Amino acid sequence: MGQRIDIQHLNVYYGDFLAVEDVNLNIDANKVTAFIGPSGCGKSTVLRTLDRMHEITPGAHVTGEVLLEGQNLYAKDVDPVAVRRDVGMVFQRPNPFPTMSIRQNVLAGVTLNNKRISKSDADDLVEWALRGANLWNEVKDRLDKPGIGLSGGQQQRLCIARAVAVHPKVLLMDEPCSALDPISTLAVEDLINELKKDYTIVIVTHNMQQAARIADYTAFFNLKAVGQPGHLEYFADTTTMFNNPQNEEAERYVSGRFG
Ligand SMILES: Nc1ncnc2c1ncn2[C@@H]1O[C@H](COP(=O)(O)OP(=O)(O)O)[C@@H](O)[C@H]1O
Ligand SMILES: [Mg+2]
Repeated sequence: MGQRIDIQHLNVYYGDFLAVEDVNLNIDANKVTAFIGPSGCGKSTVLRTLDRMHEITPGAHVTGEVLLEGQNLYAKDVDPVAVRRDVGMVFQRPNPFPTMSIRQNVLAGVTLNNKRISKSDADDLVEWALRGANLWNEVKDRLDKPGIGLSGGQQQRLCIARAVAVHPKVLLMDEPCSALDPISTLAVEDLINELKKDYTIVIVTHNMQQAARIADYTAFFNLKAVGQPGHLEYFADTTTMFNNPQNEEAERYVSGRFG
């Protein structure tokens, strides 16, 4: 099952630079929540704070809280590696490990987490994750071939299989379709729609149609001016966001009259 996320008074800094200011947002379990808004308003930054991935950037830090099912991810005794086991990330460009086979790619996170796993359990897990990512039928006869030999859309589904293989509670996706053709995009969108049964999904997208197609809720981030911190301007269920937003900036943005 997915877990809910509560973001409370979140500020994100890169060194002294306040990139995103005072975000308060509740993300429902087993739903798809989309982050939209103009470039530079902090969508990726906020997304990365949900699995502490921003900490890889030297000097990046947060104030405020991110609660996963009530537990603060930033509490002193919380191990960021454990956070990233519960909260998986799929990136903009498919990034299968280039030297690894399809099978090894699926198992990469599991092996990284130092779990010992028997050959037959590994076989079962590979099949389960690839079926979950809607990729099994396309690759079952070539599991030992390189992951990078797949098409872009297949590679992205392989990355999703790798993410679900560690049984996360939440899946974060940062523009997961922006490098894909329209057919692959629809395959990944179908998959996202199925995955929300089992996971909480947060997706950054610059594609309004995509948000309208797949998101249950949509968060519109905005920027007062370049150099100013981004903020959460408006949050609504997706139907309201696109048909009847109660916020002028959001209305301008979703109707394409922005800037
Ligand atoms: N690694 C980084 N180091 C310093 N500043 C960054 C870094 N990543 C993003 N920023 C800054 O944070 C702000 C938000 O960026 P980002 O989260 O990438 O926006 P979006 O994903 O909405 O386009 C921007 O001003 C950007 O320049
Ligand atoms: Mg971004």
